[in-house]
Amino acid sequence: MRDSIEAGPSFFTVLASRRSVRGYLPEEVPLQTLESIFSAAQQAPSWCNIQPWRVWVTRGAQTRALVDALMTAATTGAPTPDFPWPPEYPEPYGKHRRECGAALYSAMGVARDDRAGRQEAWMRNFRAFDAPHLAMVAIDRRFNHYAMLDLGCWLQSVLLGAQALGVATCPEASLATFPDAARAVLGIPDELGLVMGIAMGYEDPSVAANRCRTTRSALEANVRFVG
Ligand SMILES: Cc1cc2nc3c(=O)[nH]c(=O)nc-3n(C[C@H](O)[C@H](O)[C@H](O)COP(=O)(O)O)c2cc1C
Repeated sequence: MRDSIEAGPSFFTVLASRRSVRGYLPEEVPLQTLESIFSAAQQAPSWCNIQPWRVWVTRGAQTRALVDALMTAATTGAPTPDFPWPPEYPEPYGKHRRECGAALYSAMGVARDDRAGRQEAWMRNFRAFDAPHLAMVAIDRRFNHYAMLDLGCWLQSVLLGAQALGVATCPEASLATFPDAARAVLGIPDELGLVMGIAMGYEDPSVAANRCRTTRSALEANVRFVG
């Protein structure tokens, strides 16, 4: 762990080394380090500088209460996300999605037809992969996709800031599938819709899921240089 945001690794090193971590040690991140990460992310750009992210960062008993509420909701009820999930993933997005799932399940040793194993793997989302901290991210329901872009800019700032300080993360849309459970524990006002959560902590390298590595398309698939 690195305490200071001075003299950290280069931006490109941080960008290349960040990945989603799905297994954490119980040790908490010092509050000062969490504050450094979220203070730095305040610098994220947003349309007209509206800064729409509203965030609850848990630790200790609050993390346990939130995870308990999410696990109960996930085992007893149907998902009711504040913002609908994509109804389908046409190609080529479907292929990327399948490959991402395959990489994760293969790292965990869960076979394609192992329904119980897959269900167990899915439920780990609601435990935030045993992370000691969850950052629950909400936004005013009156905003549309442009404010979601602002949130995306902020999210990557948090993920990279954490990485620079040796703190592992996993962004999790799944943590927003039972928003009423989170609302009740954290007191998130009704006018805010829950968008996602972020698992945060120190990586447990012994967890099989952490062997998962994803790939990216060649640049030409996404970017064209014209003229
Ligand atoms: C908005 C968003 C939501 C995500 N939700 C989940 C999630 O619910 N569960 C999960 O395990 N990973 C989730 N991820 C992580 C992605 O699966 C991951 O970023 C992607 O596969 C690329 O892998 P990498 O982050 O290791 O580079 C999410 C990522 C983003 C940006």
